[in-house]
Amino acid sequence: MIAMRQHVNPLSKHFNEVEKISPLNVIFSDPQLPLHIDIGSASGEFLFKLAFENDNWNYLGIEIREKLVNKAKERVRNEGVGNLSFAFGNAFNIFNHYDCRFLITSLSSISFNFPDPWFKKKHNKRRVIQPKFINLLSSSMKKESLIFIKTDIKELFDYMDFTILSDLNFEELNKRDLNYFQTFNPKKLRTNREKHAILNQLNIFEKIYIKI
Ligand SMILES: C[S@@+](CC[C@H](N)C(=O)[O-])C[C@H]1O[C@@H](n2cnc3c(N)ncnc32)[C@H](O)[C@@H]1O
Repeated sequence: MIAMRQHVNPLSKHFNEVEKISPLNVIFSDPQLPLHIDIGSASGEFLFKLAFENDNWNYLGIEIREKLVNKAKERVRNEGVGNLSFAFGNAFNIFNHYDCRFLITSLSSISFNFPDPWFKKKHNKRRVIQPKFINLLSSSMKKESLIFIKTDIKELFDYMDFTILSDLNFEELNKRDLNYFQTFNPKKLRTNREKHAILNQLNIFEKIYIKI
């Protein structure tokens, strides 16, 4: 067990420097597989399960808590998982870096699962999903690629929903129109935070958006 701060301030200067991410053919055994990126992947447990279950997808987790990322990377190496990778940093700074833009153009889907603790209005700027992040995704994501959001905080959900739908390149995707077997998570595996929310009978708010 490692002691760790639960929240870090994403605006701290410490996160201005971003990890350079190697090309897909270096980080994955088969770079041609569809790519799913999970923002705020924490210890990576959810992605390890997905990667073991679905060897027809590549998964990349981005997480701002460095120790968690280092442990997850070590596990990837030890267990020789070819379709999983992790990167440390503030997700916006990584995506905004010219050398990392290929990640946005390559992804088939991206998830924000219970993304952050910054639900108070005064902390708007620390939130992961904000207009500048959505603009970045909107300008480079492929047509028909998907955004998945999920949270147990209604105010944060409304803010994320409003921010995404304010961008005219994204539309809500009706879940009935989605074939889950073809998504990054065909068995609807749950993240740790989602399991915690269910155990505590919290409401879970979720939506899927498609790039048009
Ligand atoms: C509440 S936890 C949820 C973890 C996991 N997604 C789940 O559902 O169990 C949110 C995670 O997002 C990470 N995070 C917050 N802001 C971030 C940012 N700007 N870039 C990358 N990760 C971030 C936090 O460090 C934390 O691990």
